[in-house]
Amino acid sequence: MSAVERKIIDGKAFAARLVETIRQEVAALKAAHGKQPGLAVVLVGEDPASQVYVRNKAKQTVLAGMESFEFRLPAQTPEAELIALVARLNADDAVHGILVQLPLPGHIDSAKVLDTINPDKDVDGFHVINAGRLAVGLPGLVPCTPLGCVMLLNDVLGDLSGQHAVVLGRSNIVGKPVAQLLLAQNCTVTIAHSRSKNLPEICRGADILVAAVGRPEMIKGDWIKPGATVIDVGINRVPASEGKTRLVGDVAYAEALDVAGRITPVPGGVGPMTIACLLRNTLTAFKRTHGFG
Ligand code: GUN
Repeated sequence: MSAVERKIIDGKAFAARLVETIRQEVAALKAAHGKQPGLAVVLVGEDPASQVYVRNKAKQTVLAGMESFEFRLPAQTPEAELIALVARLNADDAVHGILVQLPLPGHIDSAKVLDTINPDKDVDGFHVINAGRLAVGLPGLVPCTPLGCVMLLNDVLGDLSGQHAVVLGRSNIVGKPVAQLLLAQNCTVTIAHSRSKNLPEICRGADILVAAVGRPEMIKGDWIKPGATVIDVGINRVPASEGKTRLVGDVAYAEALDVAGRITPVPGGVGPMTIACLLRNTLTAFKRTHGFG
């Protein structure tokens, strides 16, 4: 492996190892107790990207030895009907995790739907109760992508104490929870966003840079401190040659690779960690429900 190749953080391989340990634990619990974790995924409408995600989630759930329940509802489904489905899944003992795929159609209040989910089945970690637990340091369910980012950082860097982490992006799904997790691991955390002044300068101060802004290749090579660890959460589809498209992150990867100490690629970095962490959360919810270890 060349020096440059050694910089690349292989999220795909890490996620595959994580899924394998989850599969083994699920099999052992099933053998010991005759029960298996169940994950319900709800998709409203026909958004093509969401359909791909949901199909992948169902496939991986089954591969990990869990039960997968899939609900596909038409785009015009009334909010009350979706809430009634969530309530049924809350009451279903075979379901340990509930995920409502986002974005939801415009006529549905996402926050209202997410807050109907039993917090102990909220494997996305989006419920206000789980956001609150994370903020005050209580055990809960943590959003999957942030969890995946921090697992990769611990794998690469070990102890993160005292590191200056800059999180670019302040969404409830990635930016805020990843900042909370890094703070809990004793990082000095800066949260920057589209209205921040002097973004390049702030980024250059980072030992750890987590990019979650959703803007293709916004972070340039000269925004990165030499030797820093870069975690690119962005998944942006951009036009390529011959009318095709390609996926790029929020970081200008080729430039960043020259400067960074370690960096996640897109695809194959953070992306595969999200589903692996969803399975991990489902297993966690299952074990807590039944009081297993
Ligand atoms: N849409 C895109 N990413 C996610 C995710 O992690 N969870 C849910 N529920 N919807 C999403």
